[in-house]
Amino acid sequence: MSAVAARRAVIKGTGSALPRTRVSNADLAERVDTTDEWIVERTGIRFRHIAEDDETTSTLAIEAAQKAMQAAGFSSADIDLIIVATATPDQTFPATATIVQDALGCNGCVAFDVAAVCSGFLYALSVADSMIRVGSAQNALVIGAETFSRILDWEDRGTCVLFGDGAGAVVLAAEHGERGILATRLHADGAHNQLLYVDGGAGTTGTVGKLRMKGREVFRHAVVNLSSVLKEVLEEAGESIEKVDWVVPHQANARILDATAKKLNLAPEKVIKTVDMHANTSAASVPLALDTAVRDGRIKPGDLLVLEAMGGGFTWGASVIRY
Ligand code: UT7
Repeated sequence: MSAVAARRAVIKGTGSALPRTRVSNADLAERVDTTDEWIVERTGIRFRHIAEDDETTSTLAIEAAQKAMQAAGFSSADIDLIIVATATPDQTFPATATIVQDALGCNGCVAFDVAAVCSGFLYALSVADSMIRVGSAQNALVIGAETFSRILDWEDRGTCVLFGDGAGAVVLAAEHGERGILATRLHADGAHNQLLYVDGGAGTTGTVGKLRMKGREVFRHAVVNLSSVLKEVLEEAGESIEKVDWVVPHQANARILDATAKKLNLAPEKVIKTVDMHANTSAASVPLALDTAVRDGRIKPGDLLVLEAMGGGFTWGASVIRY
């Protein structure tokens, strides 16, 4: 009797969305004490998209989700779970996922937000994967969407040049076979809350607050944590770094991507880099990079992917996926 293949969450479609307005480093230098040279040299960032008044986390999430559903060939009736990873929800409540749900016409299904900042998409993906594997969901929309421009201190050149707005989405479906999410590892360490945080909140100041970061220390932790979680998740999946076709990392800083690749002996050309075009879009960055590389033909069915991210909390995680 042949063994039945495991039930897995397979990526059936990807989508992304960016605000209309693209802002270059030179544009920023007109209102912030910075230069294109400094930003490119220290971060690799050249452009970011910034939301206009009529563009919100939910409008970007809806557009990304619609494109992912179209790519998957799924209609609203097929979706039974929606998770939005965001640190910049439209409102404190209800969950942005319910706004997305209503716009898509998926009313009635499970819908909630996950808050793990830049690692939010990995956390959301892991929850959806678990629900699919145990059979409490069949087809899920997992979205990372942010409007970080609204929580930036535009007087702080050490942070405001680093971030952008956007959204990315995947449609996951249960399948029995070799494809799908093979392993995920998540971590958090609240001892580092004060290195990257927002200085306000609904339950404290009653305001949204502004982003604060000790960049150099975050950088150091990012390289160590990301390389260790990548090794951990590959071991759990029974795969090796040599077999990986593409690493799709959180896009915070090109130097973090290079340093992590070097530490892992990973060929730099296997790392998907979109930080130059989008800057750091927090929870949106991994699915935005994924969708970019799927649509430009680099990522193909059957490829072995590693998705990874690290952010405020700290939180960090990685996922191995047979695409
Ligand atoms: O998504 C969550 C994860 N986030 C991250 O991973 C971010 C991690 N950190 C980083 O990417 C980098 O640490 C930064 C890009 C934030 C900063 O790069 P750095 O090489 O660590 O620079 P620094 O903060 O040590 O600053 C170096 C210098 C300072 O001047 P002095 O004190 O050496 O004279 C800053 O005042 O650069 C100056 N500086 C700037 N100059 C021009 C800081 N920001 C700017 C700026 N333009 N925008």
